[in-house]
Amino acid sequence: MDELTLAPENRIAEGDRETRNEIDRLIDGRRPGYSLPSPFYTSPDFFARDLEAIFASTWIFAASVAEVPEAGDFVTVDIGTYSVIIIRDDDGAIRAHHNVCRHRGTRLLNDLTGSVGNIVCGYHQWTYTPGGELISAGVQAPGFDMACFSLRPVEVRVIGGLIFICLSPTPPEDIDEVAAVIEPYIAGHDIAGAKVAAQSDLIEDSNWKLVMENNRECYHCEAGHPELTCTFFPTYGYAPEEIPKRLQPAYQRYLDAEEQLHENCERNGLPYALVEELSGRPTGFRIERAALDGKGESYTMDGSAASAKLLGDLDTFVLGRASLHVQPNTWFHAMGDHVVTFSLLPLAADKTLVRTTWLVAPDAEEGVDYDLENLTTVWIKTNEQDAHFCELAQSGVSSPAYEPGPYAPTESQVDDFVTWYIERLKAHRDATDSRGE
Ligand code: FES
Ligand SMILES: [Fe+2]
Repeated sequence: MDELTLAPENRIAEGDRETRNEIDRLIDGRRPGYSLPSPFYTSPDFFARDLEAIFASTWIFAASVAEVPEAGDFVTVDIGTYSVIIIRDDDGAIRAHHNVCRHRGTRLLNDLTGSVGNIVCGYHQWTYTPGGELISAGVQAPGFDMACFSLRPVEVRVIGGLIFICLSPTPPEDIDEVAAVIEPYIAGHDIAGAKVAAQSDLIEDSNWKLVMENNRECYHCEAGHPELTCTFFPTYGYAPEEIPKRLQPAYQRYLDAEEQLHENCERNGLPYALVEELSGRPTGFRIERAALDGKGESYTMDGSAASAKLLGDLDTFVLGRASLHVQPNTWFHAMGDHVVTFSLLPLAADKTLVRTTWLVAPDAEEGVDYDLENLTTVWIKTNEQDAHFCELAQSGVSSPAYEPGPYAPTESQVDDFVTWYIERLKAHRDATDSRGE
C-alpha cells in the first residue's frame, strides 16, 4: 500500500512568506491565561494551518462502531477540504479511506451514512471493495496495474467502540497509552454493540476553537443551559474553595451523589477518578466519571433514565456520566442507559459541524423502551444554546475592537486546550522546518 503524504504542491497554501511569518509571530506571542488574538479565529490562512498542523496530524474522533454495524456500512466525515470514508469491510474490520477516486479524483461517496456492496465512482465507475482495493477500472492501457490504485488509506484506531482516525501516515504514538487509560471507563457500556437512536448535525457559524473552548468550561452553564443544569452540576470546573455561595447547595448534593456513585462504580468494576492530561502530549485528553443531579441516571429533565434498557452488563442506572474529552474534536458522555457522542468537524474558518449521536442498548425499542424526544431534548437544546454563544463569540472576535481577555479560574481547561493547541502548532512547524519545507 503506498504511503499517503501530501505532496508539497497539494498542501494548502497559506499565502506568501509574509503571511506565514505573521502566523508564526502570533503563535510565538501567545499569552497564557488569555484568549487568542482575532486572526486565530477568523483568518483563512490560520484555518489552513490548523487543518495541517492539528486536523491532519492528530487523532480525530470520526464515529462509533455502532454506526457501521454490518459489512459495507459507511459514514463519511468532512474535515476542512478532506473527506474520509469510514467503512466496515467484508471481514468485519473498520477501515478508513480518503474519499477520493484514484482515477481523476472525484469524490466517491456523498451521503453522510449508507451501505454499499462495493464503492463505485459515479464518474467512470472505477470500483473498489470496502477494503479499498480497486477491482474494476474498465478498459485500460496495457500494463495498467490495479494493485497500484487502491484507495488512499487513513489510519484507524478503535478505542472502546469509538473510531478515531488520523490523516497523517505517522500518527501520534501516544494513542496506545491514552487508550489504556480510557478503555476501562467505557468498556462496560458496550458502545460497539449499541444501537444508534438519533443523530443530529448542527453547523455553527463559528471557528472550531471557539466551539471547543466553549465546551471546556461551565462558567456559562448556570445562566445559559436551563435544561442541562437539571442534571449537570453547575459547580463543574470550580475548585471546592472557589465555589460561589449560591452554588453551595448544588455542591452539597453533588458530594452526596458522588458517594452513591462510587459505591455503584466499585460494584460494577468501573473506574471513576479524574485523569486530566490536556496538554503536554500529542493526544490531550480528560476522563472522569461524575455524578448527575436529580435521579442521577441520565441527561433528562429529572435525571431519570431515558431508556428502560441498561447498556452492556451494567447492573444499575445510577452511574452518573463517564465523560471523555479528546483533543481536538470530541467530548462524550456514557450513562447507564445511553451514550451521547459529539464530534466537532471544522468546515471553514468560521464554520464548524457539531455531530451529536445518541446510542442506546441494541434491544431498546423506540416508543416502548425510550421516547426519542425525552432522550434527545437536553442535548438538542444545549447544543442550540452553545451554538448561539459561539456565533456571538465569532462576531465579537471579528471586530477590530476585540482584544484577548483573561480566563477565570474555572476556565482552566480552556487555557489548557489553548496551550495544547499552541504546542501542536509549534511541533508541526518544527517538523516541517526540519524537513526543509
Ligand atoms: S474519476 Fe472516478 S472513475 Fe473517473
Ligand atoms: Fe455550553
